[in-house]
Amino acid sequence: AKVVKHTFNIGNATFKPLCKEQVIVAVNGSLPGPIIRVHEGDTLVVHVLNESPYNMTIHWHGIFQLLSGWADGPGYVTQCPIQPGSSYTYRFNITGQEGTLWWHAHSSWLRATVYGALLIRPRAGRSYPFPKPHREFPIILGEWWDANVVDVENAALLTGGGPNVSDAYTINGKAGDLYPCNTKHTHKIKVATGRTYMLRIINAALNNQLFFKVAGHNLTVVAIDASYTIPFPTDVVIVAPGQTTDVLLVANQAPGHYYMAARPYISAVGLTSNNSTTTGVIQYENATSSAPLMPVLPETNDTVTAHRFLSNLTALITGPPRVPLDVDQHMFVTFGLGLEPCETKATCEGLNGLRFSASMNNVSFKLPSTLAMLQAHFFGVSGIFTEDFPVVPPVVFDYTNANVSFDSDLWTPVKGTRVKRLPYNSTVEIVLQNTAILGTENHPIHLHGFNFFVLAQGFGNFNRTRDATLFNLVNPQERNTIGVPVGGWAVIRFRANNPGVWLMHCHLDVHLPWGLAMAFVIDNGPTPSSTLPPPPEDLPRC
Ligand code: C2O
Repeated sequence: AKVVKHTFNIGNATFKPLCKEQVIVAVNGSLPGPIIRVHEGDTLVVHVLNESPYNMTIHWHGIFQLLSGWADGPGYVTQCPIQPGSSYTYRFNITGQEGTLWWHAHSSWLRATVYGALLIRPRAGRSYPFPKPHREFPIILGEWWDANVVDVENAALLTGGGPNVSDAYTINGKAGDLYPCNTKHTHKIKVATGRTYMLRIINAALNNQLFFKVAGHNLTVVAIDASYTIPFPTDVVIVAPGQTTDVLLVANQAPGHYYMAARPYISAVGLTSNNSTTTGVIQYENATSSAPLMPVLPETNDTVTAHRFLSNLTALITGPPRVPLDVDQHMFVTFGLGLEPCETKATCEGLNGLRFSASMNNVSFKLPSTLAMLQAHFFGVSGIFTEDFPVVPPVVFDYTNANVSFDSDLWTPVKGTRVKRLPYNSTVEIVLQNTAILGTENHPIHLHGFNFFVLAQGFGNFNRTRDATLFNLVNPQERNTIGVPVGGWAVIRFRANNPGVWLMHCHLDVHLPWGLAMAFVIDNGPTPSSTLPPPPEDLPRC
């Protein structure tokens, strides 16, 4: 195992993916930022120097951070932000996971341009559970605003409504030639006839799930969220913000040019997107014609296709099943989107003095501002969070029927920094239930610090007597982010074997400041190897 070192200089840079120059915050002047390549078992050390005008943190999305919670990154959860002109060194081991993950800013909307791939290959002497591809290409799907993204977010929070839609989707920072001014801004990869390639697809977009397709080629999914799957043949892939999907592509078509393309999956009426398609080009060596073939993407509201893909993935397991069969802590978590009164005119001027608010079990999550939750936990500082996150919703109702009149309390959630505390090594099952409070949509829920098993997912209200029979306890897919079906539910399980404070939140980026989040506090175990060590000396101060 090696120590892999990187330096991130984060500062302003000018890009022009559409017709206009825009100053963005970028890492080492590039968009996407640097690709990090490690082998399982390595130690990664990233020295982050913040020369941007904003508070900054970096999150290593999907990395377990076993006993290294101080390096996880969400602002005010595991660390105070790195202030402009300051630095922090993230240091952690990469153990027990292989595949594609990514890193991104975890502070306001900065992840729109501060992101990159984190590729974990098997350690020396081990190999992929499939024939080694000839080459591997990271395909990072992103979202672009011809505007300052922090301003876009602040404007949305101020008016109390949703944010302005983006101006383009991108592949590796480039919008592609279906957009104006873009003939030179198309991501291209070259392939040779007969060879197999791996596309490591990452959805780094802020607000939309995306369908992805390659013209003329079938794909085989081999991993999701850095966890191997039973090879799954498909012609279309769907990825939610936060998720990754590794596919194999065989260059077995006539030598030519083929578009790869992505466009949003809009799970519900009323959700918005810029409704455009980003493209990249796969070019065969010896290609004759040059006009690329375009794939036919699913309709943007094609829930049937999305669900068929997402619910049919299963894990590739080589040993005995690892799903915990005994559950110590059952939770039932509903998502609500409601309205809350503005605190002051200066921070919010929403209609009727109200703004959007989102909640889990009717608690709208509020980040602390004076100390990170992990510091408060480690040093025993009270007043930063409370341990009363409810494990069931306050009222039982017909979750997915928009026509019943809900308890009006659900429209005005309570605010708080409430956590659920769990004993070390306890097993947890969570029913994640979408609701129709103020409209229904698919929410990609991300858990920091763990992969979880997805036992089952479906539509309507979860019904244990009926739906427990669907649980896959043998080879369920393992993920760090699950798109909970629109108007439906998903059941996940994990073992709380990583002491620290771990955020669980919706990865649609505007839903986090609205409060669609909660956090787990996991106690230390009995031995030094199950005890969170003290913070590094350069941990930023608030
Ligand atoms: Cu990818 Cu809490 O984030």
